[in-house]
Amino acid sequence: MSKKVALVTGGANGIGKSTAMQLASEGVHVVITDINNEAGAALVSEIENTGGSAEYHHMNVADQEEVSKVAASIKHTHQRIDYAVNNAGIGGVMAPSHEIKKADWDRVIDVNMSGVLYCMQEELKMMMEHGGSIVNIASIAGQVGFPYCIPYSATKHAVIGMTKTIAMEYARNNIRCNVVCPSFTETDIITDLPDKILEFSKNYRVPMRRHGKPSEIAEAIVWLLSDKASYMNGHVMNVDGGYSAG
Ligand SMILES: NC(=O)c1ccc[n+]([C@@H]2O[C@H](COP(=O)([O-])OP(=O)(O)OC[C@H]3O[C@@H](n4cnc5c(N)ncnc54)[C@H](O)[C@@H]3O)[C@@H](O)[C@H]2O)c1
Repeated sequence: MSKKVALVTGGANGIGKSTAMQLASEGVHVVITDINNEAGAALVSEIENTGGSAEYHHMNVADQEEVSKVAASIKHTHQRIDYAVNNAGIGGVMAPSHEIKKADWDRVIDVNMSGVLYCMQEELKMMMEHGGSIVNIASIAGQVGFPYCIPYSATKHAVIGMTKTIAMEYARNNIRCNVVCPSFTETDIITDLPDKILEFSKNYRVPMRRHGKPSEIAEAIVWLLSDKASYMNGHVMNVDGGYSAG
């Protein structure tokens, strides 16, 4: 993977951060984007201090204009991207479905669903001439219902649908598109969830009796991006400690 260029959205923390670090350790130049500028800048230093190469851009994935501007800047500097990880996401409010407010619904749709589309559109334009590999991050909640999280579950189902559609449309351009579905993973996104849910999932729901680590999700993402997965396209990969097995 050495000398390739990768874009990681929501790359300043959690699963995105782990992915950026693993890519950098493979010799990939990583373009980290996020809305958390402080964490993004700190990660670039961390990667550079360990001999890797990275840069950071503020990019709110829900802002199509900003996504286009950052993409233009990446194109100007690097002329291409080889890999893209559409990882930025939010959990949104937890509430009974009949009580979800339009603003709360729209916010999750904008970031988790439209954001993935806006980013993929720019990534595809940059990859169409020379090929590339895209990995989107959905969730187990994109395959089964997730009570009290209807915006989140709806957007993650959508990410799986978009992934399969892109996989079919752009294979002829030598672009592969796959999706990784984690179950509960130890990052900031789950810190607001009620302890009752976290304890239940850890102690009863996940056969491995623990939550995932961001690095364990990143391993799957990096593998899917790489040529080692050269015949993987449109695949939905659960990295979930067996959550989806039963
Ligand atoms: N942690 C889990 O349990 C879990 C499970 C399944 C799926 N996921 C998915 O994994 C992805 C990464 O989440 P995480 O667990 O690492 O959480 P995280 O909160 O640690 O990281 C998410 C990152 O996205 C960034 N972000 C948020 N809104 C953004 C926006 N509008 N534009 C750009 N960046 C934005 C945040 O600043 C943060 O750096 C998400 O798509 C999430 O839905 C997480």
